[in-house]
Amino acid sequence: MPCDTGHDWWRSAVIYQVYPRSFADSNGDGVGDLPGITSRLPYLADLGVDAIWLSPFYPSAHEDGGYDIIDFRDVDPLFGNLDDFDALVARAKRLGLRVLVDLVPNHTSRHHPWFLESRASRTAARRNWYIWADPAKDGGPPNNWRAVTGGSAWTLDEATGQYYMHSFFAAQPDLNWRNPNVREAMAEIMRFWLDRGIDGFRVDMIDYLLKDEALRDEPVDDKGWYDHPLAKYQLNQWGVVDIMRGLRRVVDGYPGARILLGEVESRLPIDVLVRYYGTAGQLDVLHLPFNFWLLFLPWQSAALERFITDYDAAVPEGAVPNWVLGNHDVPRPATRLGVAQARAAMVLLLTLRGAPVVYYGDELGMPNVPIPPERIQDPWSAALPGGGRDPARTPMRWNGGPTAGFCPEHAVPWLPVGDGLETVNVEDQRQDPRSMLALTKALLTLRRARPALRDGSLRCIQGPPGIIAFSRVLHEERFLVALNTTDGTLDMPLPPGTVGVVRLSSAMDRTGTCSALRLRAHEACVLEWVHRS
Ligand code: NOJ
Repeated sequence: MPCDTGHDWWRSAVIYQVYPRSFADSNGDGVGDLPGITSRLPYLADLGVDAIWLSPFYPSAHEDGGYDIIDFRDVDPLFGNLDDFDALVARAKRLGLRVLVDLVPNHTSRHHPWFLESRASRTAARRNWYIWADPAKDGGPPNNWRAVTGGSAWTLDEATGQYYMHSFFAAQPDLNWRNPNVREAMAEIMRFWLDRGIDGFRVDMIDYLLKDEALRDEPVDDKGWYDHPLAKYQLNQWGVVDIMRGLRRVVDGYPGARILLGEVESRLPIDVLVRYYGTAGQLDVLHLPFNFWLLFLPWQSAALERFITDYDAAVPEGAVPNWVLGNHDVPRPATRLGVAQARAAMVLLLTLRGAPVVYYGDELGMPNVPIPPERIQDPWSAALPGGGRDPARTPMRWNGGPTAGFCPEHAVPWLPVGDGLETVNVEDQRQDPRSMLALTKALLTLRRARPALRDGSLRCIQGPPGIIAFSRVLHEERFLVALNTTDGTLDMPLPPGTVGVVRLSSAMDRTGTCSALRLRAHEACVLEWVHRS
């Protein structure tokens, strides 16, 4: 299938996140790589997603799963080389898949040549490429800012007697985006990848790019605490929007639509989140600021309905909502919500208005995999018990073999593949017409075939407590999506004079026409909604 060359390809695209370490290992070292991903692209094209986003594959000290980059313009030998990258993009294009890569503009690795130069002396040419500050009067950190990963956001550089700032781990010093040279360097990096034919970037931690110039303390509560999403000085400064406009101009300088999908704090209030679109009539910031709220909201109809209504209404006219159910930083839906709930949640994700992101393996219902202490890789595991973020980063399960088909059986996968392989793997689920894989594929097929599910308006419809229901309407085409979020059976009445044709159930076991919808525990249904003739 040829690539859609239109400018609007991304507006209803389904983006599939690939975590390169964990997708497919082609050389038997137990770590996934780019040739491995390329070999599995036909699977993704067949599944029916529109684009893939590759988490970082750049040379890295691997002190934060590749988000600590040493060279922004190359491929870490662990994952292959630039030829492998070009081959991946070429194959993806032939299959009609778009490719987004991760851009990590907020920080580098502490081993990046820029930082080595910057920390060399107070007068180093690149000193002001990073954020340096003198100690407070007591010799401690310059202010009370905390790193997202805990502890002070400042680390003392003994040799030069100043602190450098890091929003994340100390291994990832923050770049100084007030310096125009940093902006230009990042634009050049973007051009480097755009010239290689990519379709855009997933941009890491955009809201952290600017900090208060006076480095004022964050206001704290009576326990000395402040929440990052609500921080006043450390993030979401107004100038970030302008920086993003600058990045947007870079991608807009290329033919076809190259897009920016930007990561913001996960519990950002809606009014702050939607700033990153721009305004109706001037949508010149990000194409898609991430909306992570489905990762944190309780799986309850009232909370979900309220959020869906508020967020959908707040997205500026002409802009596209975004939805996420899983990623490499949070527990997987099958574990977080439950196996049946994860199926209903996939129905929700793929029928809401907008451009959703599917995390690799969630189409199979892969669970979090417990990681024995001696195999933990994520440095955040001290704060996030049970292996930090590793349990959601385990190898993709291609078959039921001992290494799940991720790597040769003589190799040791970088993280354990986990239990339950008999059913939660691609090969077995392909044979099962009711599997989670079959459900995901059916949803993607339906979405592609029916414009109302892609581009239609969305309106929540009052149902009995426990059911979340909404319509998707475009011209004459009308769908009703209803999810039972409870453990019991619930009836969803249809408006008088209408009947529903069941197009899909999360259980993958029903079709037919109904004038009232009986939903079993945790079942979700997509009905085509027609007037009784
Ligand atoms: C957000 C990424 O999703 C996460 O995995 C990473 O550790 C931090 N940004 C730091 O880059």
